Amino acid sequence: MDKHEVRTLFYTGLVLVTFLTALLFSLRVKNIDLPDCVPYSEIYTQPKVVQLDDSTYQVFAIAQMWNFEPSEIFIPVGAEVDFYLTTKDVVHGFHISEKNVNMMAVYGGINKKTVKFDRPGIYPIICHEYCGSGHQHMRAEVIVNYPTN
Ligand code: CUA
Repeated sequence: MDKHEVRTLFYTGLVLVTFLTALLFSLRVKNIDLPDCVPYSEIYTQPKVVQLDDSTYQVFAIAQMWNFEPSEIFIPVGAEVDFYLTTKDVVHGFHISEKNVNMMAVYGGINKKTVKFDRPGIYPIICHEYCGSGHQHMRAEVIVNYPTN
């Protein structure tokens, strides 16, 4: 085998091991979890916020050119929120600032991520997948503003 081939194989293997180590580090040490995929049969067509109890909420979010619905989500401090996400048209992104949420909205599919909001504040949601001429206008907010009992 040529020495350049050996060198190429070595560096390819090194990159592969580095990526796998970073992935395992994220999952095990940083406790980063991946979004869930919900079956197609549970598709919804209306955006809504559902309160299950004092500190548990479900948000059924819909992305479309070029906004998110609901655009304002009011929840109390300490709330745990299941975000469900789908789109009416093209692929959109769904990033919640400070919360390490990074989902894609895919037509015909639903992604789900659970997030806990321990501190009051306004958490912007932005679209971080280029989706057309109005992409930069796609924003929403999670407003965490009052304590639970
Ligand atoms: Cu939606 Cu970019």
